[in-house]
Amino acid sequence: MFNIILHQPEIPPNTGNIIRLCANTGIQLHLVKPLGFPLQDKQLLRAGLDYHEFARIKVHENWLNCSQNLQEHRVFAVTTKGKQRYDKVTYAAGDAFLFGAESCGLPMQLLETFPESRRIRVPMVAASRSLNLSNAVAIIAYEAWRQAGFPSGQ
Ligand SMILES: C[S@@+](CC[C@H](N)C(=O)[O-])C[C@H]1O[C@@H](n2cnc3c(N)ncnc32)[C@H](O)[C@@H]1O
Repeated sequence: MFNIILHQPEIPPNTGNIIRLCANTGIQLHLVKPLGFPLQDKQLLRAGLDYHEFARIKVHENWLNCSQNLQEHRVFAVTTKGKQRYDKVTYAAGDAFLFGAESCGLPMQLLETFPESRRIRVPMVAASRSLNLSNAVAIIAYEAWRQAGFPSGQ
């Protein structure tokens, strides 16, 4: 029902956690290449993922391909540079959330293609740099799923 997009993720255990989160919430996961690791990476497999969890992942050659695949959907850039608080937005079925890489976040050129209302951030105390990627994904995923009434959840 919702979509999580990881733009050029670098750290296998983060992606492993996110694969499991998406499987547990019924969210479609998109990975945009280049990935910082092979999908068979030992550290990914160590997250104890089952075959069916891998089967749900869509891998895209680049952002253009991914955005074309999601052209019917609203896409939100999730960024420390956003002015719009994530909990002030009303989400709708099919919405997609784009996250940046661990070391550098989303490229400015890409971020600038999103209007301010589609750049959302998770609040932090002053002088903080950023949350861990998989924590940021979990916060957004559960807020969107909560707003939808946890469909298929029990
Ligand atoms: C480790 S952070 C990247 C840090 C990078 N220096 C930056 O400021 O974007 C990885 C990704 O997690 C998400 N993220 C982390 N903290 C966030 C926050 N407070 N609000 C929104 N997104 C956040 C963003 O998608 C970010 O690109």
